[in-house]
Amino acid sequence: MSKAITLTRLASGVAVLTIDLPDSKMNLLSSTVLAELADSLTTIERDGAKGVILVSGKEGNFGAGANVEEIQALQSQPSIKIYEAAKMGKVLFARLEKLNSIAAINGTCLGGFTELALACKYRIASSDPKTEIGVPEVLLGFLPGWGGTVRLPLLIGGQAGFKMISTGKAESSYKAWRLGLVDEIVAKDELVERAEQILTGSKVKRYTPGFKEAMMKKFTASALEGTSMGRSLFAKMAGGAVYAATKGKYPAPVEALKVVMLALSGDREKAYEAESVAFAKLASTQVSRNLVNIFRGQSVAKKMEGVQPNIDVKTVGVLGAGVMGAGIAQAAAYKGYEVVLKDIDQAALDKGMETIRGLFKALVDRKKLSQTEMDVMMSGVKPTLNYADLADCELVIEAVVEKMNVKKLVRAECEKAISKPFIFASNTSSLSVGGMTEELKKGDEVVAPASRHPENAVGIHFFNPVHKMQLVEVVRGSTTSEETLATAKAFVAKLGKFPVLTNDAPGFVVNRILAPYMREAIVMAEQGVPIVDIEKAALNFGMLMGPFTLLDEVGLDIAGHVINTLNGAFGDRLSPPPILKVIEEKKLLGRKGGKGIYLYDENNDRKFVMEGKRFSKKKKRFLLNPEITEALSAKNNRKTEGEIQDRLFLAMVAEAALAVQENVIDDPSQLDFAMVYGTGFPPFIGGPLSYADAMGTPLAYQKLLYLSKVAGDNYKPCDLLKEKARTSSPFIS
Ligand SMILES: NC(=O)c1ccc[n+]([C@@H]2O[C@H](COP(=O)([O-])OP(=O)(O)OC[C@H]3O[C@@H](n4cnc5c(N)ncnc54)[C@H](O)[C@@H]3O)[C@@H](O)[C@H]2O)c1
Repeated sequence: MSKAITLTRLASGVAVLTIDLPDSKMNLLSSTVLAELADSLTTIERDGAKGVILVSGKEGNFGAGANVEEIQALQSQPSIKIYEAAKMGKVLFARLEKLNSIAAINGTCLGGFTELALACKYRIASSDPKTEIGVPEVLLGFLPGWGGTVRLPLLIGGQAGFKMISTGKAESSYKAWRLGLVDEIVAKDELVERAEQILTGSKVKRYTPGFKEAMMKKFTASALEGTSMGRSLFAKMAGGAVYAATKGKYPAPVEALKVVMLALSGDREKAYEAESVAFAKLASTQVSRNLVNIFRGQSVAKKMEGVQPNIDVKTVGVLGAGVMGAGIAQAAAYKGYEVVLKDIDQAALDKGMETIRGLFKALVDRKKLSQTEMDVMMSGVKPTLNYADLADCELVIEAVVEKMNVKKLVRAECEKAISKPFIFASNTSSLSVGGMTEELKKGDEVVAPASRHPENAVGIHFFNPVHKMQLVEVVRGSTTSEETLATAKAFVAKLGKFPVLTNDAPGFVVNRILAPYMREAIVMAEQGVPIVDIEKAALNFGMLMGPFTLLDEVGLDIAGHVINTLNGAFGDRLSPPPILKVIEEKKLLGRKGGKGIYLYDENNDRKFVMEGKRFSKKKKRFLLNPEITEALSAKNNRKTEGEIQDRLFLAMVAEAALAVQENVIDDPSQLDFAMVYGTGFPPFIGGPLSYADAMGTPLAYQKLLYLSKVAGDNYKPCDLLKEKARTSSPFIS
């Protein structure tokens, strides 16, 4: 079996440990790799060396952290085993610390690899823009457990160190150099040469701050971190900031702060011990298991197994230059595709091109793109009103109006205009992808013949706004071939998004499960539960925004359309609440129309008033639209927060279970992943199925049975849930 670590020696007597995990694009730490590292260190300790250079054999990747399957395996062990794993890593890294060692970092350096680098005497990083260094463990619900939570604040100061640990944000090599996290920045081809020079006596060129910055650093180190009073003030401030960011839902930053404080107090051994204990405690929590599961969902979504793409996509046609079409065209151009953007209306086309330009311009303003790059990408988007211009496309994505007849017509026009094999993808939110391949007749006349290649039709369902939403549902229609699915998946992954595979059922996964939740929020408001209470209950559950805020964001017209579609497909259990008629009559659209459930100002921000007597206690109250409140006749039917949360989130659970039962999705953990990425469902809860699993499927079943009697048929637990409850088994094992 080929090895991940190779030990070589330079003429100077310096040893080089090259990390290059076989059959993998990136280096990952696993028990095997750590055992190899231990063996290499034993050889070096036995034979001696002037120094040790740690370097990666991968282009653009020093190391991406620990192997996620191994993390999950560790999490299924008793916490004493997790504690021992943290201790073992520490012992190994301490051996490295005793050597004259240097980490020569090029590319991404994350998690355990950053901890490895921190255990070295020196760190140098390449000037390559892809180089970044970080400790993202909190995003998985634990903390750096191999000494990183202690070494990082001691190296770069408590404030900067805790910020990196508590946010999980990676820093560029330049920022890392300014922070003192790396000693030098070097051209990537000169990393090993320079590392050897440093280990054999050359002086390092550390960042030297200017006078003001140096004074500030000195003050922070002595006054804030160097005295017990200063440290307790720092702990209070940092603790407050953590609470504001996490609302007490994520325990990892809180535990990390305790370890950082111990490290700053000077008791290194005690801090290391506390770190191992905290690591074991945090990694055993349900929150961490959920976060790791969601993280794993990213690679599951992108994984290409078995059948491979059969069409090499270079030019993408986008039909419709509206909200979605413009976003899709920009996303494709950004990743280097040639794009042909087609509409039927010149004004819509111009507006779409303006939107694309605006999206690129925002990237230039945020320094994510140079003006020249933007110009090149913009020149790759060709606006047109003619189908003939689509002739070179290997993939066409339609984002025209949501009408089956129009979708069939544009599909047939594309088949006329493009003579080579191409994929026809629909961005539909609710229509049948398979249905679009069928013929369209007007009387006896065939206006759109059946598809010549129905196997090449697929759904690629983006979410709004395309540039922000990382989730895309790739829909297997009744006629879609596996090769077409693979091509669609590969395209979405190339856009940097996560393709979740679903079958062709109304609302697919995300809208199917989100709509009953939003509908239930409206039903409760119609029953007199104050909107403000419903919003608060959802926020306290951990949602990014309340259901009414979300309704306005999505657009009340679109939400209404989805609810109506689901009602058509699933009948009365998802009947549209009467207020939707009022919303339609009054043409309330939500944020985009300036009026919805809430009122908006000329900048499209929600209007509010400040309430509260004492200045420090004043809070914003967002103004509800009186057209809505007046139409809600029932008033003051207060419910407890728990009751409201059950109504909202068990509506999701019931629908999610049904979607799994109906095989809308093959992998239940991808359903949870889609709900987290597509709707802002709280990652620490993991998704609606994980939520049911955590409360226990027997309890979820009982609660749903009760709600189905008092609140509506939409809660009726399906047979699959009944069976899960009977056998006390979870949806996600
Ligand atoms: N808006 C959303 O939040 C959202 C989210 C996901 C999916 N979708 C789906 O995406 C599709 C488009 O939605 P949208 O919100 O971008 O609509 P939109 O109204 O903003 O844009 C539709 C565009 O299609 C153009 N058009 C109409 N007929 C055409 C034809 N025959 N050929 C070419 N262009 C034509 C119109 O001129 C318009 O510019 C719909 O199927 C919708 O269900 C919308």
